[in-house]
Amino acid sequence: MADTAKFELGGKGFEYPVLSGSTGPDVVDIRKLYAQTGAFTYDPGFTSTASCESSITYIDGDAGILLHRGYPIDQLAEQSTFMEVAYLLLNGELPEGTTLEEFKTTITRHTMVNEQLATFFRGFRRDAHPMAILCGVVGALSAFYHDSTDITDPQQRMIASHRLIAKMPTIAAMAYKYSVGQPFVYPRNDLSYTANFLRMTFSVPAEEYEVDPVVEAAMDKIFILHADHEQNASTSTVRLAGSSGANPFACIAAGIACLWGPAHGGANEAALNMLREIGTPDRIPEYIARAKNKDDPFRLMGFGHRVYKNFDPRAKVLSKAAGEVLAKLGKNDPVLDTARELERIALEDPYFIDKKLYPNVDFYSGVILSAIGFPTTMFTVLFALARTTGWVAQWNEMIADPEQKIGRPRQLYTGATQRDYIPVADR
Ligand code: CMC
Repeated sequence: MADTAKFELGGKGFEYPVLSGSTGPDVVDIRKLYAQTGAFTYDPGFTSTASCESSITYIDGDAGILLHRGYPIDQLAEQSTFMEVAYLLLNGELPEGTTLEEFKTTITRHTMVNEQLATFFRGFRRDAHPMAILCGVVGALSAFYHDSTDITDPQQRMIASHRLIAKMPTIAAMAYKYSVGQPFVYPRNDLSYTANFLRMTFSVPAEEYEVDPVVEAAMDKIFILHADHEQNASTSTVRLAGSSGANPFACIAAGIACLWGPAHGGANEAALNMLREIGTPDRIPEYIARAKNKDDPFRLMGFGHRVYKNFDPRAKVLSKAAGEVLAKLGKNDPVLDTARELERIALEDPYFIDKKLYPNVDFYSGVILSAIGFPTTMFTVLFALARTTGWVAQWNEMIADPEQKIGRPRQLYTGATQRDYIPVADR
């Protein structure tokens, strides 16, 4: 591609540099556009806008490729562990020698939360959605860990990152325990990150929870598949919040709030609810017809993606894993049959083919999470837990970026032009 882009406005010509990354589309550097032309660009939803430079995650949506630091997601999901992927995202390279064990020890030593946080939980209603609790409690962490909120200190930034990755499972499990009226379970340092989370969630004082290795492996895989996803809505929210200099705990709370929406992380809960509502494969055509009806706001949840227009590589891994996990756990959930049949029918339908709509990561994850024993309200919490690694990696990258500025988009104003105020009696 040319190394400059030519642009004409109001009869005048302008040239802008074209920048190339290591792979992927080039970008036109329009930073001087407003100063030179007096015009903004207009791109609601940022469909054509690169908001930052990043070396963490690469997606080729047409080819269905997802790479973390260059490594394909299917290789990481099949061969790595969530802790290793977390290290990779944060540090840029796979750990060597004893580095991974040291990283795991660091994370393990941060899994406990300040005891005062337990009191904080008790301010929530028992029937509160766990995402509401998670958002509030993570935001509150900045009130407990003052010694890691100076974002100008790289050491404090790293401690805050480790704290967030380590404490998220504890807080997520506490949110669950609170919602079911059971006592909180403290973390245990002899267990893996994932086994510890499962135990804190499902163990009760009256009965120890034996972590099934099949369940632990499936959970770990789900965490890997959700760990990062480039500049998605919640990650961009974390970056935007962080661009003002806000502390990392507040930024991650902002990311959690954004993730909750049904168009984003909330889709895993909505997808399983939808599959359960469909109930049996014979009702699928009714739902397909609704999804295609322009006058019906219904969408097939777990279908479609802003970036993937071929297939979502995470869905491929999860589709396979769903069958394996259910078989290994000896569970026969009719929801999996409904999901497979829905996928088959949708992928033969011209509406979905033309619009390039394929199952996304949320389509099959719910089937596995439900088999493990999680209620649907916990699904997005698990997404947030895993995505915290990506959020902190992206937040650290942004803070260290010399090009970093406060995020401040402009607008196409369509409101009233200047007019004089009229006192109420004269209106
Ligand atoms: N069911 C039916 N039609 C759909 C769907 C769907 N799930 N998704 C998109 N469409 C149609 C949409 O109506 C539109 O049609 P038209 O061009 O005739 O107006 C066209 O496809 C393009 O949709 P869009 O909303 O402009 O596309 P987008 O890139 O803005 O939205 C999306 C992407 C993921 C928000 C959307 O596909 C969606 O709402 N999917 C369901 C929710 C979901 O599963 N979200 C999880 C995303 S993956 C996990 C994550 O990263 O959070």
